[in-house]
Amino acid sequence: MQVRIELAERSYPIFIGSGLLAQAGSYAGLPRAAQALIVSNTTVAPLYVKVLKNALQAHYGQIHVVELPDGESHKDWLTLNLIFDALLAQACDRKTVLYALGGGVVGDMTGFAAASYMRGVPFVQVPTTLLAQVDSSVGGKTAINHPLGKNMIGAFYQPQRVICDLDTLKTLPERELSAGLAEVIKYGPIADMELLAWLEKDMEALRAREPSALAHAVQRSCEIKAWVVGQDEREAGLRAILNFGHTFGHAIEAGLGYGVWLHGEAVGCGMVMAATLSERLGLVDQAFVQRLSQLIASAGLPVTGPQLDANDNAGRYLELMRVDKKAESGEIRFVVIEAPGRAGVRGAPDALVREVIDACCLRQ
Ligand code: NAD
Ligand code: GLY
Repeated sequence: MQVRIELAERSYPIFIGSGLLAQAGSYAGLPRAAQALIVSNTTVAPLYVKVLKNALQAHYGQIHVVELPDGESHKDWLTLNLIFDALLAQACDRKTVLYALGGGVVGDMTGFAAASYMRGVPFVQVPTTLLAQVDSSVGGKTAINHPLGKNMIGAFYQPQRVICDLDTLKTLPERELSAGLAEVIKYGPIADMELLAWLEKDMEALRAREPSALAHAVQRSCEIKAWVVGQDEREAGLRAILNFGHTFGHAIEAGLGYGVWLHGEAVGCGMVMAATLSERLGLVDQAFVQRLSQLIASAGLPVTGPQLDANDNAGRYLELMRVDKKAESGEIRFVVIEAPGRAGVRGAPDALVREVIDACCLRQ
């Protein structure tokens, strides 16, 4: 099946299916070049580089591979530079095509490298985690982390194509599957309550990796993301709703140290916090928050926030949340649920946010 991102001359398809990695048709029509560079990591490369390389033989004279160290803690300048090292060492020209083979970390870094190498070379996303297939490989956000803030350095740069081979999800660790489910769940409260109801019904099938359930989750997620990105590529407004749960979540990730909680785990818990804020703002009722929290827990995700500071936990969250791309003149902006299935962006008084953090975090 196919979903299309409609962005005029930057439009591209997302291919979703089983066995796509090995199929020649997955790569038909992509830019031809003398060289290609597959960017992967030390975990994913041993599993899937060979099959991707074989499938690409017909398209490129030389196919190079660079294996990055694995993990969110390596989403930084030092690791990004390994991609530039590989490109320059092989004298790759400006037609070289980059392939991002891995999860969101590899995808975000490869995209950023593609955006900046020789001021821009084409790249293809080949996402191998659920999170990357339903979210990060789509829409052209690329970035690395800074110790003071997540995804703070990057560029908008669209891939030529996204190839989601559902078979790659078979080797994904359980915890990573749950992390991906957080981003699938996200699309429910912000845009599609039917999806939320389907997730409540089919969560077990998803966690058992039933192919038809995974296919539906990836397709519907990509459709919603395509609808949002098609209207607001550079996040002038609407696209911010895709960050539901992320303001609190990014504080958790940065506050604990990148990689301690997975991105999806932090987003899952962050959605409970953002829904609670929505409830305190009088936008949704407690039953809605409870329903969402139960669904997130059923995906195997944490729903109670960690303590980030023994003396002033809420203060530490607030401090971290001020370093957020949505912040304006130091004021934190939160994605809230305006009504079930519809999201918006608002500020909130610090005192209220403190109450929410106190209500949602573990006590020591
Ligand atoms: P990840 O890239 O760290 O991958 C998770 C783990 O699974 C890693 O250890 C990886 O090596 C391993 N893995 C990947 N595919 C595998 C497979 N098929 N089998 C076995 N192991 C496999 O994490 P992620 O959850 O994919 O992505 C999180 C990142 O995505 C974060 O950095 C986040 O900021 C970013 N993100 C970006 C966007 C965007 O729009 N660009 C959206 C959401 C998240
Ligand atoms: N994951 C948020 C976005 O793509 O905008």
